[in-house]
Formats: sequence, C-alpha cells, structure tokens
Amino acid sequence: MRTPLLAGNWKLNCTRDEARALAQAIVDGSKNATDREVMIAPTFVSLDVVADVVAGSNVGLGAQDVYWEASGAFTGEVSAPMLKDARCTHAIIGHSERRQFFGETDYTVARKVAAAVENDLSPVVCVGESLDQREAGTTMGVIEKQIAGGLCELPAEHYPKLVIAYEPVWAIGTGKVATPDQAEDVHAHIRKLLETVLTPAAASATRILYGGSVKPDNVDELMTRPNVDGALVGGASLKADDFLRIVNFAS
Ligand code: 13P
Repeated sequence: MRTPLLAGNWKLNCTRDEARALAQAIVDGSKNATDREVMIAPTFVSLDVVADVVAGSNVGLGAQDVYWEASGAFTGEVSAPMLKDARCTHAIIGHSERRQFFGETDYTVARKVAAAVENDLSPVVCVGESLDQREAGTTMGVIEKQIAGGLCELPAEHYPKLVIAYEPVWAIGTGKVATPDQAEDVHAHIRKLLETVLTPAAASATRILYGGSVKPDNVDELMTRPNVDGALVGGASLKADDFLRIVNFAS
C-alpha cells in the first residue's frame, strides 16, 4: 500500500553537464518503473538543468537542504519558495552530514520541515545513530529524539507529504550496510513512534527509506522487509547503471 521511493542523494558531486547527463540516463532507465517513485537530488546549482531533464517524467527533483525563512539577509541560504520555483518536489532535511559538519539540530530540522511542507515540498527527514551510539545500545533513544524533535512543527494536514530516511551514520559511505534485520528493527520502531508523534493512520502511510551503502547487490534483500519502503542512495546514485538497478529492484 506504500509506493516504494528510490532516491539518489548526489551530495557534493557533478558539474551541471555531468548532472544533465546523469539525470537523462536515469529518466530513460526509469520509464518502466511505474509501480515505484524515483527522486534525484543534485546540488542547488544543477537544479535547473536537472529540472529540464525530469520535466514530464516520473522522476522527482529534490534539494539537499532548505532554509526556513522565505527571503531576507541570510547569506548562502536557499528558501523553500525558491526551491518550489526551481521545480523541486522534495527536500532532504537533517542529513547526518549536515548534522555533523554544518551544525544541523533537531530544532533546525523542525523549522525546515515546516517551511518545506508549507511550500508543497515533501520533506525527506533523515535520522540515524553513530557507531558509538549503536555500540552503547542507545540507537532507539537517539532515533526517538530525532523523530520527536524533527517533526514537532509538522501540521497534521501535511502528514501525507512526509518521508523518513533511516541512515545509520556508520553505514554511510563506508560500504558497511546495515543487515536487512537491523534496518527492519529500526524502521519498525520508527513506525511505532510515528503512531504517537503523528497518528496511527499517518504512521502506516509514511514511507521509511533506508540509507547507508545501498548497492545493486543488497537492495533486493533490504526491500523484502515489511517496513523498508525504499532507499536513499549516495555513492551508487552517481552511476546510472547502479542506480537504475536499485530503482528496478526485484519486488
Ligand atoms: P552512501 O550510499 O554513499 O552510503 O550514502 C548514503 C547517504 O548518505 C544518502 O543520503
């Protein structure tokens, strides 16, 4: 009942020409993937060229971040109305790299989520524990705080737009993927949390993506788990063939 979403986070990669070519290959290779959704998130400066390529296709366009104020003296930021104007459909919010390197907190995540939904963007809210936290046995507590804090300003009318991405920090870019059972454990816990943070109906409708070293050779098994509704892919989304294999996972 939840449509799978396969999303590529290009991070700080691709010139505009490279972005255009990669997007074109993904659009061409996703044409028959009609029972699933696809989204790609280039850098801000490539949004317009990628928007031209994905126009009229079944591939959505994501920003990698968003600022909560609409306009003003906020040097370096890009706002939700501007992203909407640039034809974005999604905004990734609270990625662990932003939490780790750019001071993102649950408070800033909450404000960004509110700004995104008010401007008709689907927020892809990222949560996940570090290796230290996993080894200390505090994973679920960390996730609870990130979910409750990050969603506290999300109005009920916008619950249907929400996407969650569980990305254990220790699995990002390391080649060390969470096992399907590890992913399922946390995803099931997140869904339970959403029952109280949102509503039971919203909890069962919300897509929960897994991210962290998703590759062509592990996506099929991850996607067999009942609470894994898609993937947020970094490295493998930069190679059209690899990403298309992930988009076309065996269902
Ligand atoms: P990798 O797929 O490179 O591990 O990155 C995952 C990620 O951070 C997606 O947002």
